[in-house]
Amino acid sequence: STAKAAVCCAVLLAAVSTAAPAITRGDFPPGFVFGVGSSAYQVEGAVAEDGRKPSIWDTFTHEGYSADGANADVTADQYHKYKEDVKLLHEMGVDAYRMSISWSRLIPDGRGTINPKGLEYYNNLIDELLSHGVQPHVTIYHFDFPQALQDEYEGIISPKFIEDFTAYADVCFKNFGDRVKYWSTVNEPNIEPLGGYDQGILPPRRCSAPFGVLSCDRGNSTTEPYLVAHHLLLAHSSAVSLYREKYQAAQGGQIGLTLLGLWYEPGTQTPEDVAAAARMNDFHIGWFVHALVYGDYPPVMRKNVGSRLPTFTDEESKRVLGSFDFVGFNHYFVIFVKADLSKLDQSLRDYVADAAVKFNLQFMKSKTEFPLGLRNDVIPPAPWALKKMLKHLQMKYKNPAVMIHENGVAGPLDGNTYNDEFRSQYLQDYIEATLQSIRNGSNVRGYFAWSFVDVFEYLFGYRVSFGLYGVDFDSPERTRYQRHSARWYAGFLHGGELRP
Ligand code: NOJ
Repeated sequence: STAKAAVCCAVLLAAVSTAAPAITRGDFPPGFVFGVGSSAYQVEGAVAEDGRKPSIWDTFTHEGYSADGANADVTADQYHKYKEDVKLLHEMGVDAYRMSISWSRLIPDGRGTINPKGLEYYNNLIDELLSHGVQPHVTIYHFDFPQALQDEYEGIISPKFIEDFTAYADVCFKNFGDRVKYWSTVNEPNIEPLGGYDQGILPPRRCSAPFGVLSCDRGNSTTEPYLVAHHLLLAHSSAVSLYREKYQAAQGGQIGLTLLGLWYEPGTQTPEDVAAAARMNDFHIGWFVHALVYGDYPPVMRKNVGSRLPTFTDEESKRVLGSFDFVGFNHYFVIFVKADLSKLDQSLRDYVADAAVKFNLQFMKSKTEFPLGLRNDVIPPAPWALKKMLKHLQMKYKNPAVMIHENGVAGPLDGNTYNDEFRSQYLQDYIEATLQSIRNGSNVRGYFAWSFVDVFEYLFGYRVSFGLYGVDFDSPERTRYQRHSARWYAGFLHGGELRP
């Protein structure tokens, strides 16, 4: 029987090796972009330097709402260390760096005068990247709304946001568009309305009380989240129109926006659960993608949200329709959905699926436990869910060009911890899933691991780390340490096998 087992193993091994030939970077389509990402508030620091004024995130953290009262006053200090960081990016072998511009560094009051020091910083960073062969992929707005505008008109509830955002985007295109060829207007406009205007867990801490998760005395409206999303979408499409009319032909870039793209999977195959999961996907992904591809919100949103869901004028609908060259998705994990109306939180009743609601509640109530794959027994990595999401986009939304703008996993690691093999494993599995999706017809154009270095994580401060490079936040120099995952990614990007 030992001999039998040996033969059997040999056969198995042979089967495995023919079934899965080694994957390398060269297996991806020509022009496929590999990168890593960050965002301005999370990585820059220097929040009161060289004329930058506060954003709503400075206010929120200084009021103590992030874990341990943490803030990003210094964080990874990229503002001072960008040259060192660009060297690391170059060494890693990435094609691209996904970064964002701090609105209140470039235009400190949100509107009007441009800060020459802000302009200089982003010019320097962009030039440094390009001279090291790294393309900047720039997000114009990544959650850090200028406090001055928030004070003036309660932020994104007001349609004034659309005009101010478009003017800010114009400054970006005009000053950086000669060198920036990939723009994302807004990061996660499907999250900001929920976190900032429904649950009250993100700035500006408005919620649909009394149902908000934290006690919260601002908002009190279940209409606001939809209004905020509407304004974000209209601001996006207005910036895209401007780019297309004024800049795109001359500058030759591409423009899109970036959504949180989790995947909702039925908890069981009962018709109720299947329908509930489909609704969740319609609410979270369809909210924006349906509008971009078909010019209106998904029918199920119209039905469930009723008159609280804003309508588009003909002109707005035309402007939104097709207002993207690609759609970015930040994908981390799968959420299993169980239809159970009795457990619904009123603020999210429209979704008619309770699993995500429960998930959100737990997520907020214990700020100690970060859900993004920190504990694999709680949320196991599910690369198959990324494949399902990409298939869904292919079948339901006419196969748009996609950038996977974020994918990664958090750990409770110190800056100088090297061993993050769990992360290398995670990234390998998701990159392989991406390739399989491409081979099955998905139009994926790029993949960015989150995050380049450890950064300030919004609600969890420095309790979790996503970085391929660790940052020692206790050292004044904010020393960077290469982790296993950075080494592994560099090996892959330099032509090595996906699973060395
Ligand atoms: C979403 C956000 O875009 C990013 O800023 C955040 O750090 C990660 N995902 C992880 O939560």
